[in-house]
Amino acid sequence: MNSIETSELTKKFDGITAVDGLSIQVKEGEVFGILGPNGAGKTTTLSMLCTILKPTSGTATVNGFDIIDRPHDVRRSIGIVFQDPSLDNRLTGSDNLHIHAALYGVDDRIAEERIEKLVKLVGLEDRINHLVKTYSGGMRRRLEIARGLVHTPRVLFLDEPTLGLDPQTRSKVWEYIDSVRKSERITVVLTTHYMEEAESLCDRVAIVDNGRIAALDSPHELTKKTGSEVVTLTMADSSRAGEFKTIPTVTNVKSPSEGVVMLSVQDSAAAVPKIMRRALELGMEVKTLDVQKVTLNEVFMHYVGREIREEEGKHSAKEMMKHRLQASGRI
Ligand SMILES: Nc1ncnc2c1ncn2[C@@H]1O[C@H](COP(=O)(O)OP(=O)(O)O)[C@@H](O)[C@H]1O
Ligand SMILES: [Mg+2]
Repeated sequence: MNSIETSELTKKFDGITAVDGLSIQVKEGEVFGILGPNGAGKTTTLSMLCTILKPTSGTATVNGFDIIDRPHDVRRSIGIVFQDPSLDNRLTGSDNLHIHAALYGVDDRIAEERIEKLVKLVGLEDRINHLVKTYSGGMRRRLEIARGLVHTPRVLFLDEPTLGLDPQTRSKVWEYIDSVRKSERITVVLTTHYMEEAESLCDRVAIVDNGRIAALDSPHELTKKTGSEVVTLTMADSSRAGEFKTIPTVTNVKSPSEGVVMLSVQDSAAAVPKIMRRALELGMEVKTLDVQKVTLNEVFMHYVGREIREEEGKHSAKEMMKHRLQASGRI
């Protein structure tokens, strides 16, 4: 059973094709990642699936409901944590959760139990009766995740759940998302531009660029295609680096700069002796050797042709305002 199915889903904004013929299936219980740089079309995709934006063409169903014909059923069956926080800072964490429960018509007694469980799940027991304005960024995000789950949705959408958080807080939020996923048994669709995030949380990842899917697979399979490890050699003379291509276990050879050679391999333990033997045979001196696991960062570079830069994730004030207006339905 699929929680989400899209067919040629497309969104154009005067002249710009933000999402370009997206066709995906997300299985029930899966954590599905949409990974791409700023402007790739991630938020637009989520906005269409959450029925905040109407597609220009194409179709999609969420929990079996068509996003155009049955938007209310879609909305009732999903939880949303969007990029811009929408908590009421003047209220306590607990009040924010109870208001959400009331908005969704959750029975009082059920809401009480549900909120108690969710507050524990995101580790906010100690602070839940404090005003949200006293919360740190990480605590707010955790409260938003709990709020997105109050009405027991079957799919949770998270748009850049750890954007702007420091690395330590980020890994904490990952832990909470993971425990939510295990205890709630729901489908999670998250967008991110952090490689480590996609790698540590997702069962499958769609790498998107300019509104199109460049690759879609499990993080493991995605890295397998690019070789799972990189052996980096520094050499007195790297002009004959191409000779390493004849070693069967070496899938790719690059020389990014003079004296540096990078070899993609599946299994460095088996490949390194062969590499060293070949260097010796050819009379090439190896000064240093280093082995590193390939991360999704290299994978992104492989499929898209450039790296995701950290600053691409930071949104300009203008863009934040645009998203806010968009989310509130004013544009
Ligand atoms: N409401 C809008 N009006 C015009 N262009 C938009 C609007 N929303 C998004 N875009 C454009 O669509 C593209 C994809 O944006 P977005 O979905 O926000 O990307 P991401 O979330 O991956 O950073 C960008 O070029 C962005 O400027
Ligand atoms: Mg976005």
